[in-house]
Amino acid sequence: MVTIRTLASMRQKQEKIVCLTAYDYPTACILDKTGIDVILVGDSAANVFAGEKNTLPITMEEMLYHTRIVSRAVKNALVIADMPFLSYQTSIQDAVYNAGRFLKVGAAGVKLEGGAPILDAIKRLVALGIPVMGHLGLTPQSIHELGGYRLQGSTEESGAILIADAKSLEMAGCFAVVLEKIPASLAKEITASISIPTIGIGAGPFCDGQILVLHDMIGLFDDFSPKFVKQYAHVGEAIRQAVEQYRDEVRKGVYPDKAHSFD
Ligand code: KIV
Repeated sequence: MVTIRTLASMRQKQEKIVCLTAYDYPTACILDKTGIDVILVGDSAANVFAGEKNTLPITMEEMLYHTRIVSRAVKNALVIADMPFLSYQTSIQDAVYNAGRFLKVGAAGVKLEGGAPILDAIKRLVALGIPVMGHLGLTPQSIHELGGYRLQGSTEESGAILIADAKSLEMAGCFAVVLEKIPASLAKEITASISIPTIGIGAGPFCDGQILVLHDMIGLFDDFSPKFVKQYAHVGEAIRQAVEQYRDEVRKGVYPDKAHSFD
């Protein structure tokens, strides 16, 4: 079973850490059987599962539901739950209470977005035995402040802030940090500046691991597709073809045939 210690030792051995998102039982079963290391119950469920424009609307109750059914499926990977917007920013007490609820439904840790403003909450969670994954760079819960899904850390000044934030997250006790949509050279510098694993998404090849949103990389969601997403399958197209064939066979009376009926 993958633990946060496994990830630390993978970084030491320079073995790449493979992470993907999941929100439901059958998908989590498939992912876990592939032997990937981390399954994130991402708040990207708001976008690619629920069709919202951003991640802000998803609630604690919805994230708990996704986390419970994913955790039920997973036997090997490390399950991390994304803490939704307003579940940890309001107070340390809220952060502890809500993070604890994710562990109660089966997650092995939580992910929080941001740097300096949430360091005290992270320290408290870690002190209480709740593993925390950080998330820097493009932090979708701050989409309105960032002014869009744009590249982060592209100036010397903003890059330096991200390096300092990554060091603070390590000091606060995070076991890993996601780096989203930043230049590859900056991700390389951050990875060299800290000793916890960096997990990149749109952050180039130099991170200790990579994460993608499953629905993006299997072609199940195409409302928008960031440049960094590589599509490994066209599942949406496969579903469309299957449904069209079923539709035609029902209309023509071809289905159900003898093989799919009872005497
Ligand atoms: O919500 C999510 O899926 C994420 C990943 C993209 C890192 O935060």
